[in-house]
Amino acid sequence: METVRVQLAERSYDIVIGKGLLEGAGQRIRQVVPGRQTLLLYDQGVANPWADTLAESLRGAGLDVTEQAVPSGEKTKCSDQLIAIWHVLASQGFTRDCSLVALGGGVAGDLGGFAAASFLRGIAYVQVPTTILAMVDSSVGGKTGINLPQGKNLVGAFWQPRLVIEDLDVLETLDKSERNSGMAEIIKHGIIRDADYFRFLEDHLDGLFSPDGFENLVHTVKRSVEIKAEVVGTDERESGLRRILNFGHTIGHAIEAEASYSALRHGECVGIGMAAASLLTLKRNETWTARDHQRVVRLIERAGLPTRVPGELDAESILARTRIDKKAVSGGVRYVLPTRIGHVQTVADVRDDQVLAVLRELRAD
Ligand SMILES: NC(=O)c1ccc[n+]([C@@H]2O[C@H](COP(=O)([O-])OP(=O)(O)OC[C@H]3O[C@@H](n4cnc5c(N)ncnc54)[C@H](O)[C@@H]3O)[C@@H](O)[C@H]2O)c1
Ligand SMILES: [Zn+2]
Repeated sequence: METVRVQLAERSYDIVIGKGLLEGAGQRIRQVVPGRQTLLLYDQGVANPWADTLAESLRGAGLDVTEQAVPSGEKTKCSDQLIAIWHVLASQGFTRDCSLVALGGGVAGDLGGFAAASFLRGIAYVQVPTTILAMVDSSVGGKTGINLPQGKNLVGAFWQPRLVIEDLDVLETLDKSERNSGMAEIIKHGIIRDADYFRFLEDHLDGLFSPDGFENLVHTVKRSVEIKAEVVGTDERESGLRRILNFGHTIGHAIEAEASYSALRHGECVGIGMAAASLLTLKRNETWTARDHQRVVRLIERAGLPTRVPGELDAESILARTRIDKKAVSGGVRYVLPTRIGHVQTVADVRDDQVLAVLRELRAD
């Protein structure tokens, strides 16, 4: 088992990564929550056997568990579901020393986290992520929230968990396409922060999910968690460094919105977005070579992700979407672009014609 400590002063917490951790999760959780009452919120799609194992472990550790399942899918991150959780907590008489444990991907984590942040002005929260994306991305950094009909993640709070338990066994039941989608963030971590890690991925990506690849998978999840933890530890509230995590996401989010959030998975859009950011850099920056670009594109493709813009999407419309990206600041869209593998910078002078040229060049036939 590996432990990564997220350093956030009095809000610091551990992320434990390993195999067979659900069985002993109750004992670990019992040590970090103030009382016995706990709500186990879980994604219906991850019900068996993981939710049962976790519920049993929590009860075995002496916790008084109420179980609440939520439907799978992005639609669950909504105000109705949030209110439903508040009602369960209130009607069961949950008091300030209660806790909420969320088992699932980013949807259950973001929704459960925001319920924990808001009920009684904040109760103890524990995350048990079950997707690659949730393990290396959404469970690190304390962003919680829900979507509104007007847009994604428009309401939320920063609320750090007391503990995150990452049992890699749960990935056995995860769809391959979901797994691949999460790999986009992992590749992103290498590009923005760690050239050795990027090379490690180049060397070990193929067998990562085979039994023989287990040690490499542990290393991968750990290194990605460390990188995200380091970035959010420096910049908890996203005023500076945390923006580098947006690499590949400006164009990625625009494509995701333009494809109306359903046709393409987030990680697929980030794959295309990273390829586009890399090509954009190739056109602007002499330190970024054709070989760097090829390495990036090749690794994304090996992870089973696309690097070309779907032919039916219009370049002008994608460009227009980049301007309304929530993370854009007034005065222009800021792009996170690599200077070399392992290092990025934020630039504000990317011209529209450069973006359009890249989108057109990357158009799938
Ligand atoms: N808080 C943050 O910092 C942050 C960062 C990135 C993304 N997010 C959010 O995360 C969400 C996406 O998360 P996600 O990609 O994990 O999606 P998700 O939670 O919707 O899970 C994807 C699918 O996999 C299923 N599933 C999950 N774990 C499984 C398992 N072990 N076995 C079988 N099926 C399983 C789910 O039922 C679902 O159908 C988005 O809402 C996004 O906004 C948040
Ligand atoms: Zn992302």
